[in-house]
Amino acid sequence: MTLNRRKTLTLLGGGMVVAAAASAGTFLATRTPTRALDPWRAAGGYEDPRLFALSYALLAPNPHNRQPWLADLADEDALTLYRDETRDLPQTDPHLRQIFVGLGCFLELLSVAATLRGKHAETRLFPEGPDGPVAHVRLKNGASRDPLAGQMLDRRSCKEPFADTPVPQAAAGELAGHGTVITAPESVARLRKLTWDAWLTEMHTHRTLKESVDLMRFGKAEINANPDGIDLGGPFLESLMLAGVLTRDNQLDPQSAGFREGVAIYEEMLYATPAYVVLTTPGNARTDQIAAGQRWLRLNLDTTRLGLALHPVSQALQEYAEMKPHYTEAHRMLAKPGETVQMLGRLGYGPKTPRTPRWPLETRILNG
Ligand SMILES: Cc1cc2nc3c(=O)[nH]c(=O)nc-3n(C[C@H](O)[C@H](O)[C@H](O)COP(=O)(O)O)c2cc1C
Repeated sequence: MTLNRRKTLTLLGGGMVVAAAASAGTFLATRTPTRALDPWRAAGGYEDPRLFALSYALLAPNPHNRQPWLADLADEDALTLYRDETRDLPQTDPHLRQIFVGLGCFLELLSVAATLRGKHAETRLFPEGPDGPVAHVRLKNGASRDPLAGQMLDRRSCKEPFADTPVPQAAAGELAGHGTVITAPESVARLRKLTWDAWLTEMHTHRTLKESVDLMRFGKAEINANPDGIDLGGPFLESLMLAGVLTRDNQLDPQSAGFREGVAIYEEMLYATPAYVVLTTPGNARTDQIAAGQRWLRLNLDTTRLGLALHPVSQALQEYAEMKPHYTEAHRMLAKPGETVQMLGRLGYGPKTPRTPRWPLETRILNG
């Protein structure tokens, strides 16, 4: 959950928060979790082309920022990608569908980055079958620079309200090669309601809510210690933590003021959406999920190029009992019979948001 400054100010009328901030002095002036953001600065600073490409790949979007990737460098000029099985999301992603979509994003970013070194990433998915490594990637000479490579460091998942400005038809047309862009007001209105109802369902199902709350990192020290999950940082949120307004306990308690304010923020955000993008696949095999991730990554780089913001809203696509009515409705609205909706995203004009934490490359290598 993201709590932004503008809305959260209403939480206590501001006064107590300002007092807490003032008494905390320089503590609050130095709240950027610099260490957790180091991998963004380190990207591209490696001689070995595999490390070079991997240093960008780990900046890929992925569910709950779990970063479920591990690379083995035992082969010369090649790498083997494994799923880190400690990073699953058993409640909201029981069949690992989203985890594999995220691994698809990783593979595509790896391949885009490799082109900056003139390398083509020859990728074999599941070289040892479905239970083995995710991919074997050999870097070969002869690639020209991917036209989207310049967007890698600016790409974001923008978890903010979008401006009340339509997505121009020309931009929607450019994005249509990646997925289905929905701008028709009636469909947009129905999707706003669906994403909101689905989000509320996740928040009011204790075990799925707890999965997210357990992954929240409260403040700079926690974010730097565990640069993954849902990062709640910055001077304003830390002042709320100091004031006891934003705590792990109240995020788990639907009756608390802190929880209810978070709900209001999400409602405003989800409704401030002028358009959506949908990615579907004919089947739902692991290879379909990886392919959807590869497409999503290119879409996200392309929205960045066009100055548009993109934000995955996955709740209605999640496969657990309480979500079933919304899952069924999402598929009725967005897919042909038999197809799977792999990604649904809000699309519009949003603010430039900060980078999100990442584990350093060195911690993601199995055999350097
Ligand atoms: C398969 C998948 C599902 C996601 N679902 C959501 C979601 O439902 N809500 C959300 O806010 N972000 C979602 N995200 C975005 C991640 O939270 C985000 O990629 C991660 O926190 C890293 O941030 P970044 O993309 O800005 O680098 C999803 C990303 C992927 C790849």
